[in-house]
Amino acid sequence: MSQHEAALEAQALDLERVVCRLTELAGQGARAFTIGAGDWPLRGFVVRTGDAVRGYVNRCPHAGHPLNLLPERFLTADGVLILCSSHGALFEKGNGYCVAGPCAGRSLTPIALEVRDGFVLVADSVDVNALAQAAAS
Ligand code: FES
Repeated sequence: MSQHEAALEAQALDLERVVCRLTELAGQGARAFTIGAGDWPLRGFVVRTGDAVRGYVNRCPHAGHPLNLLPERFLTADGVLILCSSHGALFEKGNGYCVAGPCAGRSLTPIALEVRDGFVLVADSVDVNALAQAAAS
């Protein structure tokens, strides 16, 4: 690869925004990620739903806890819904809507994603700092 090609590739993929490879979410995969530095990085997670991937802030609308206890443990045993491990709220994977539990009718905060060259990225349009601060308040 020439220097010019390498520069173009680096420009195309903002490495700080890369969450994981799409293949790492094969099947019913989900995984946590953190972007940003300082006291309030953006803590989110991504989840595969069919051919699509969705991203959400890792903060339950019930009591503000992270949804998971383990880095990749976000789903019910059958993989159909997102499960908050604190008090059992259940969310749809495709839109983050809470269908049962103490915050029924509320929703997870979405994070726009892009899939580029086989990588899942937080979209360029996402203001990571603003979203992290909103999630912390
Ligand atoms: S913090 Fe998620 S259900 Fe209570």
